[in-house]
Amino acid sequence: MTAQSSEVERVGVRQIRKMAADGRRIVAVTAYDALMARLADQVGVDLILVGDSLGMTVLGYETTIPVTLDDIVHHTAAVRRGVRRAMVVGDMPFLTVQISPEEALRNCGRVMQEAGADAIKLEGGERMAPTIRRLVDCGIPVLGHIGILPQAIKAEGGYRVQGRTPASIAQMRRDALAVQEAGAFAIVLEGIAMDLSREISGSLEIPTLGIGAGPHCDGQMQVMPDILGLFEDFVPRHTKRYATLAEQIRQALTAYRDEVQSGAFPTEEQSFQ
Ligand code: KIV
Repeated sequence: MTAQSSEVERVGVRQIRKMAADGRRIVAVTAYDALMARLADQVGVDLILVGDSLGMTVLGYETTIPVTLDDIVHHTAAVRRGVRRAMVVGDMPFLTVQISPEEALRNCGRVMQEAGADAIKLEGGERMAPTIRRLVDCGIPVLGHIGILPQAIKAEGGYRVQGRTPASIAQMRRDALAVQEAGAFAIVLEGIAMDLSREISGSLEIPTLGIGAGPHCDGQMQVMPDILGLFEDFVPRHTKRYATLAEQIRQALTAYRDEVQSGAFPTEEQSFQ
């Protein structure tokens, strides 16, 4: 129990570090609304990221680039309302933390103050270190993110697994260390070759959360619609479907459509005198 709540101990930076130190794998997933966030929280997911994958999973964009700060504030606030225990992390969208550390501070401040996030996540290694340092110095917990950086997709020309060439291996090592030294409490490793990800996880003091980075991280992060089978366009190599919800939803809606059309729904049971 904590002073914050008489019922549950909320997950914060200290608890995330302790899970990793105890060898208890950290479970992280994305969510974008109160309903799904509540379900994840109820089953004991430790960290819920309001990812800018929101752009593709909920808002119908092709990339994360069009997602705005207002979008993240709006959806993070919804997730916050659904969660009692898990750590809620707001993802900083394209160009909200890159222009200057001061602008980053103002924008991250909105995600913490207006949306009630426990922490923010930002993409980028070495080059984002001064910004991470500034945020941490002001009391904003930062989750780093290196490897495949979806916000750089236009510059990179696609999603490319990192850590397969000597130059990329060296860059990933530098990025991981820079993020840790800047004060991030944990780091997402996305799309990094397994051997390198194991080496980075072993050498860092902060916990690593892998997504497409193999089993040797301190925890795993997945995009909720991918693991629930809601997103059907393709199954990314790094994901596993634990349900086929899109198909189940289609079946349920088809049954509803048929019953309305045939007059089988509603009956007296769903009606009032
Ligand atoms: O936006 C997102 O969902 C993410 C995760 C894939 C780490 O950044």
